Amino acid sequence: MPDSNIPSPPPDTGAKIVATFVIVAVVVLVIVGVASCFWKQCYPTTGSDATPIAPPKTGTPSSSGTFTYEELARATDGFSDRNFLGRGGFGSVHRGVLAGGQLVAVKMLAHGSSQGEREFRGEVEIISRIHHRHLVSLVGYCVSGDRRLLVYELVPNNTLKFHLRGDEGRPVLDWPSRFKIAVGAARGITYLHEDCSPRIIHRDIKSENILLDFNMDAKVADFGLARFFPDFVTHISTTRIGGTFGYLDPEYATSGILTAKSDVFSFGVILLELITGRLPVEPPRDSSMCLDLNLAIWAAPRLIRAMEDENYDELVSAELRGTYPLEQMSSMAACAAACVRPSSVQRPQMSQVVLALLGKIPLEDLRAEVISESSYEITVDSNSTVAESLPATLFPSHIRSHEFTTPASI
Ligand SMILES: Nc1ncnc2c1ncn2[C@@H]1O[C@H](COP(=O)(O)OP(=O)(O)O)[C@@H](O)[C@H]1O
Ligand SMILES: [Mg+2]
Repeated sequence: MPDSNIPSPPPDTGAKIVATFVIVAVVVLVIVGVASCFWKQCYPTTGSDATPIAPPKTGTPSSSGTFTYEELARATDGFSDRNFLGRGGFGSVHRGVLAGGQLVAVKMLAHGSSQGEREFRGEVEIISRIHHRHLVSLVGYCVSGDRRLLVYELVPNNTLKFHLRGDEGRPVLDWPSRFKIAVGAARGITYLHEDCSPRIIHRDIKSENILLDFNMDAKVADFGLARFFPDFVTHISTTRIGGTFGYLDPEYATSGILTAKSDVFSFGVILLELITGRLPVEPPRDSSMCLDLNLAIWAAPRLIRAMEDENYDELVSAELRGTYPLEQMSSMAACAAACVRPSSVQRPQMSQVVLALLGKIPLEDLRAEVISESSYEITVDSNSTVAESLPATLFPSHIRSHEFTTPASI
């Protein structure tokens, strides 16, 4: 909990903190850009490693069914263009109708790569354990020769990315929808981080992976990069950085150390997209504006000014001006500022973000700096799933990460 007795810093100290924050953010995010490009070249997301990985063990998704390729081909009308829903880094997705009438989305993974096999197994293992109204659910899967398919419930109204900027003549997403989507997605991620056992880090939170229904209820999708994260582990050391440029936590990108706070950073970028309507990385218009291309960097000084003046006009998308309740914009901006802090320990937990968005905790609580007790740090190499690699009996229940709160700059 925050310490309300801590005096506010004098104005020039505040300015120094702000300046330091902006400089640190700029430096770290530039490093991230370079590191991210480097990693993308060294570790492309679809590799061609020839070693085959065994299909998921029979019965892995206890609540999900298995399908034959023919059943899914029939359901999607031969994966026809008419049924095409979208494409991500790992495959294409088609709408389908199962024999019993259930509407589904079928993802066919690009086949023949061990990387794709890893994503497939990881996604089946993780998604078959989660049940939440703001997370997409798995209906089943298909393993047929070297084909791998995942069958999800259909989420019928496309993605947040599709709706956000009103491209191609679509109306711009209105404020009430934006706010509802922010709260829904935050609830889904909170469930992954705090209510699942073992806990789950998504690792690819972005507007393209937030699906919407016709009521603009959000469902977080795409668990291909997700990792288990048991209670007794404070962070995971990864040799392969996963995520998407613009959403990538600068600390994770430079250190390889993954915590749930990496998802918090990415969620902060989504909040910035909802507020500003800008892309996470804007294409350069001229060579002098290199640093402003990254949304988190562009927004940092503007967020501070807007929160001080209680005037968000400089920040918000032009179409939204005058259409939002000030309290909702204040809480969304404060959450965004806290989530994209360069240092992960200074970012809030997702449950705090949900409460702050809903006005159920004072925004000052987001100033709380959370510090992990380093003496209890336990690291796991993420090449294997954490749950498999560390038997719980090795770690007595009193060895857990502890968190403390102290004030931070914004
Ligand atoms: N359950 C679903 N319902 C509707 N559309 C979906 C569903 N799952 C995925 N899609 C569409 O397919 C796209 C790619 O799916 P995703 O799971 O993110 O694959 P990838 O792992 O390749 O990124 C999404 O951005 C979305 O447009
Ligand atoms: Mg995706």
